[in-house]
Amino acid sequence: MKYAVRLISMIAWLFVQTGASAQTSAPWFENAIFYQIYPPSYKDSDGDGIGDLKGIREKLDYVKSLGVDAIWFTPVFSSPFKDGGYDVADYYSVDKRYGTNDDLVELIRKAHEKGLKLCLDLVIGHTSNENPWFLESAKGTNLRYSDYYIWTPVIPDEAKGIKSTRDNNILGEDKYVHSNAPRGNYYIKNYYDIQPALNFGYANPNPSNPWEQSVDAPGPQAVQREMKNVISFWMDKGIDGFRVDLASSIVKNDPGKKATIRVWQGLNHWFKEKYPGGVLIAEWFNPRQSSEAGFPIDFMRETALVSNRQGGEFEPLVCYFAKDGKGQLKDWYEQFSDQYHATKGKSLISLPTGNHDNPRLNAGDRNTPDQLKVAMTFFLTMPGVPVIYYGDEIGMKFLTGLYNKEGSQGEATKNRAGSRTPMQWDSTKNAGFSAAGFWNLYLPVDKDPDRPDVAKEERDPNSLLNYTRELLRLRKSSNALSAAGEWQLLSDVNKPYPMVYSRYAGSELYCIILNPTGKKLEAAIPTLRKNKVSLVAGSPQAGNYKTGSPYDRISINAVSALVFKME
Ligand code: BGC
Repeated sequence: MKYAVRLISMIAWLFVQTGASAQTSAPWFENAIFYQIYPPSYKDSDGDGIGDLKGIREKLDYVKSLGVDAIWFTPVFSSPFKDGGYDVADYYSVDKRYGTNDDLVELIRKAHEKGLKLCLDLVIGHTSNENPWFLESAKGTNLRYSDYYIWTPVIPDEAKGIKSTRDNNILGEDKYVHSNAPRGNYYIKNYYDIQPALNFGYANPNPSNPWEQSVDAPGPQAVQREMKNVISFWMDKGIDGFRVDLASSIVKNDPGKKATIRVWQGLNHWFKEKYPGGVLIAEWFNPRQSSEAGFPIDFMRETALVSNRQGGEFEPLVCYFAKDGKGQLKDWYEQFSDQYHATKGKSLISLPTGNHDNPRLNAGDRNTPDQLKVAMTFFLTMPGVPVIYYGDEIGMKFLTGLYNKEGSQGEATKNRAGSRTPMQWDSTKNAGFSAAGFWNLYLPVDKDPDRPDVAKEERDPNSLLNYTRELLRLRKSSNALSAAGEWQLLSDVNKPYPMVYSRYAGSELYCIILNPTGKKLEAAIPTLRKNKVSLVAGSPQAGNYKTGSPYDRISINAVSALVFKME
């Protein structure tokens, strides 16, 4: 008996020790590669023309085969879909067009079985105007949900003539939506009119405006509690975290974001204590601030480097990855390196290949597999957390001229539908996305007879799909190329082409060279003092690297990318 007790306590001791050491090792998301899915467009399992959770489940082996570690998807909660599901009517249930809560639990189970993590989207700053909380809030002042939203009798003078921007963070006239509700003449919105802002309080409530409550007031505190419930509800069902929509939007009239950061410090602290294996990824677009707020990952918005638009349909703006070679590096470099150095060792930056709000990599005349490989090389060799937007791995095209689908286009934005079209699986009906008739499809499938698809690219060893896999294998095999490996621009920032940068960790060193232009280029960089140079990605015919002193010399063909390992 005595021995049995001793054995049990030894096992318990061992268990505690193992637990303790697991806690000190880096969390999974610090070196993860994500894949973003837009659920209505990924795979339709029941033939109604809209992608669903069972469809995603059918494709988990494909997702796994890419070499990614985690999936995140845009909201799948009950919604009237006036903004693609970013207008949530019930945070606690999956919308029936995607399946049921049980289907989501089953998807999580299957994903975990295959070694994939799964994150949802937390729309924290606003709900749908059809959410029962809002409907009740509109009725009067003393109801359970009354203070979940902000109601005002007037547009205050200080808001008049002001336009709200992400930078000024002041509520301008444009954020007051007129209403005939008994509760008040106006409510504050976050994005579209149908998205009333949840009440997280004001940074500095103005005593003459009684609707401006402090962050600690009962209403805003109840909203925080509700959102913690939402997070717990899904975390307890096994999901691995959330991408947090418009995370910086929550506290009102907060220039500098001090109060917003404080609220998030509290929420992130609570989350880390309760779910140490979970992740909250900020959509803040300011890693310096989101890092202070306690987020381990934040996106950086596409800048002149890849973006082709000023807020709408594809516009052929000057872009670094275009073939004309008219792009520049300086603005992007200054913004990125400022954020990179400010957050190094504290949090990670994500540079996604694309998303549901922006044109795809394949847009306009940036459309050949070779061009897309150059851009993909950039995204998968930069530090931080790569996110591949579904379809970018096969080079799906940003479609122009589409109609407004569920708020893809509206007061706040122009065409986003072009990046949300059905995934192209094969050359069968509707590219293998759905058995539905054309008119029932969520959005039309690219009609180009030469459109890329998974089946075709699986068969072609030189496809973008197989190149993406190769880059991910390489990234996974190396500390230098991992999220926290060092990064340094080696080429002259004022001579944008070719772009040359290094990634290193300890004695491991890689040199990456990108030439998106239509011309062969030569460049010299201060010597890296290495003797052995091996090409690990890119074609051996695409150029070469000659070591020397004081300069190493590079030659790279038009529209090419090269990755060298230096020893
Ligand atoms: C999402 C958009 C959405 C908006 C409002 C954004 O950050 O990515 O798709 O329309 O938030 O929720």
